[in-house]
Parts: sequence; structure tokens; C-alpha cells
Amino acid sequence: MMTMKKFFQRYTPLQIAIHIYAWSALVVLVFNFFTHNLTANPIQALEQRTGRHAITLLVLSLACTPLNTLFRWSELLKRRRALGLYAFMYATIHVIIFADLDYGLAWSLIFQTIFEKPYIIVGAITFLLLIPLAWTSFDIWKKRLGKGWKRLHQVIYLIAPLAVLHYAWGKKGDFFQLRGEIIRPLIYGVIVIVFLILRIPAMRRALASVRDRILFLFRRRGIQTEITPP
Ligand code: HEM
Repeated sequence: MMTMKKFFQRYTPLQIAIHIYAWSALVVLVFNFFTHNLTANPIQALEQRTGRHAITLLVLSLACTPLNTLFRWSELLKRRRALGLYAFMYATIHVIIFADLDYGLAWSLIFQTIFEKPYIIVGAITFLLLIPLAWTSFDIWKKRLGKGWKRLHQVIYLIAPLAVLHYAWGKKGDFFQLRGEIIRPLIYGVIVIVFLILRIPAMRRALASVRDRILFLFRRRGIQTEITPP
């Protein structure tokens, strides 16, 4: 059996944190469902919570690249796949709850609802776009697709705003007066916009130079304190 020491040598704290978050949220959800601890409308609560976990994990996977640029924390780049796949897992559960628990697999009604409610069309497009990314997220596809892999995975920059749009549109609230349930989707929206802006090469370079300047200042202060007599 793997000893504790070996376990921590093999897995980093970040890796452990990601797996714990993804699985514990699911366990809590299932537990709350079977102990009737969700709201008066448990199916809606399940739909909402799985949707929120999906979008949170998606945004976290989007955050990895700019945070690596800022903090030179290259491990983040290795964690994008797990975050993205967990986002897909929650999105799939979200869709299954919608189609099965909510609509009892009544396909004609499901398609009618999808085409009647624009925010659900957006959700469906988001989900369809996620499928090829999840499918090709493994190394074997990275090798097979070569340069095309990167291009394909850049679709994430379309998926994330679509997911936010689906979230915001589904909520009752006034976007312009910031009333109702619009605040949370708006926060996600701002985060996604910031991460997208940071993807622009010029912004990336600016970010890297700000980081280098800060590091330089820290180092200089460090040297000065070393040589300044007490
Ligand atoms: C076929 C695809 C999809 C369908 C049919 C669908 C359906 C729904 C429905 C019916 C709701 C409203 C629940 C309610 O408040 O009554 C909802 C909310 C939501 N969905 Fe989806 N969705 C889909 C895809 C996605 C995807 C791919 C994501 C994220 C990656 C997502 C994230 C969310 C979020 C964040 C909410 C709002 C949760 C809240 O109210 O707090 N959905 N979706």
C-alpha cells in the first residue's frame, strides 16, 4: 500500500485540492438529494448547483494560463486538463438532470423547451462545444492533432463567455440596474473578461513585465537590507 509520504510525493497539494473539491461537491449533492436537504424544488436546486460547479471549474481552468504568467507557477498548466474535465463532468450531470429528472426524457418536450428558451439554446451550444475538447484532452490526441490541437482548444475562449451568457440570461433580474439575481453571473462575466483580455499577446507581455519589475524591486530591497548595517 502507498505510504502517506509516497502519496504526498506523487501528488501535489494543488492536485489533491482539485480532486477533493470536484468529488466532495458531488458527494454533498447526492447526500443532500437523498436526505431531502435541497430546497422545496430539489431538481431545480440540483440543476443550479451542478451548473454552478461546471462554470466555476471552467473559469478556474481558464485562469491557469494568466496566473502562470503572473506568478510563474507552471504547475497550473498541468492542472488545466483536470479542471476542464471536471467542468465537463458537472456539465454532463447538469444536462442529464435537465433531460431525465426534469423532463423525464420526453424528447419532443425537451427540444421544444430548448428552442423556446434562448438561454437553453446557449447552454446546449456551450455543452456541444465542450464535448470535442473533453474528448481530445488526452495526450494521444495532442500528438495526433499536432498544431490543430491548440487551435481546437482555443474554443474555450468562446465556451466560457457562452456559459456566462447562459447563466446570466437564465436569471431573472435587471442587468442594467444591477437588480435581482444578476450579480453572481456578472461576477463570473467580469472574471472571464479579465482572463480573456490577459490572453491578448500585448497584455500578456505587459503582465510579464509588471511581474518582472515587482520581482526586481523585491530582489533589490533584499540585497539592500543585506548590506545595510543594523
Ligand atoms: C444542453 C445543455 C444545457 C441545458 C439544457 C441547460 C439547462 C439549464 C437550466 C434549465 C437551467 C436553469 C435552472 C433553474 O434555475 O431553474 C440552467 C442553469 C444554469 N446552467 Fe445550464 N444547461 C446546459 C448547459 C450548461 C453548461 C454547459 C453550463 C456550464 C458550463 C451550464 C451552467 C449553468 C449555470 C451556471 C446555471 C445557473 C445556475 C444558478 O441558477 O445558480 N449549463 N441550465
